Amino acid sequence: MSMENGVVHSGFKEQSKDFATRALHDGQEPEQWESRAVVPPICLSTTFKQDGPAQHRGFEYGRSGNPTRNVLEAALASLESAKYALTFASGLAATTTITQMFSNGDHIVSMDDLYGGTNRYLRQVADRLGITTTFVDAAVPENVQKAVQPNTKLVWIETPTNPLMKLVDIGKIAKITHAAGAILVVDNTFMSSYFQRPLELGADIVMHSLTKYMNGHSDVIMGAAMTSDEEIHKKLRFLQNAIGAVPSPFDCYLVNRSLKTLHLRMRQHMENGIKVAKFLESHPLVEKVIFPGKSLCLLFS
Ligand SMILES: Cc1ncc(COP(=O)(O)O)c(C=O)c1O
Repeated sequence: MSMENGVVHSGFKEQSKDFATRALHDGQEPEQWESRAVVPPICLSTTFKQDGPAQHRGFEYGRSGNPTRNVLEAALASLESAKYALTFASGLAATTTITQMFSNGDHIVSMDDLYGGTNRYLRQVADRLGITTTFVDAAVPENVQKAVQPNTKLVWIETPTNPLMKLVDIGKIAKITHAAGAILVVDNTFMSSYFQRPLELGADIVMHSLTKYMNGHSDVIMGAAMTSDEEIHKKLRFLQNAIGAVPSPFDCYLVNRSLKTLHLRMRQHMENGIKVAKFLESHPLVEKVIFPGKSLCLLFS
């Protein structure tokens, strides 16, 4: 979400018309298969026959590229308004792969309210490798500005945050981040590509735990990183293969299928969420309801 001249933007209205159409069709072109399959096949092969040494036809080894994974990555890029998408074995695998773009001595600014696994990774793993993090309340953009150091390379935010549902102005944080010469990553898991597209608001990388709303059927653990920056994409693609935390083709098939109902599921989640929040707000035993819907409702009115 971003606030400009008093107007809240999430990219939601601009794209809502054709979102479902793109979820159904983008990346799924039947012409890419000899069989002209309308539903993408699950390609389980780990290796691909080459015409000669190092002469492959787009695929050589399943870790570096897989046809079913390609279909999902093309669909994800389209839905997130990105040029490129890469998938990983989990949301945290996406997080660790993105962080591997940086080195010992580099600094990250992140949030005091953050998904527990990201927090644990930054404090107990990245920190041990010499990549340090300052945790601030990024709902107040000045806090990010104050935390920036000469070696800050990355600003990592969530909005709404998990678990306290704090809202962060992506546009303002992007400006602060870029002025510092750093890149902005937004964990967009809670909003999904349907409700918020941070790249349209100035972010450099969007990260997802596809495990949550994007897959939405509680039967796949997977993550993704989307970007429109070619240099960042090249680095991440190298790391996807070099680190090797890739998803299985079968799981890629499941997530690709799930995306086709994302728009319907997210609308229903929103409707249900508003009803539950209203019920709890009116309940005499409930002291406080943390629900960002008051601001979000503006977007859906
Ligand atoms: C906001 C957020 N980011 C990242 C993750 C990590 O994703 P995964 O569980 O797919 O590794 C989660 C998981 O709960 C999450 O809620």
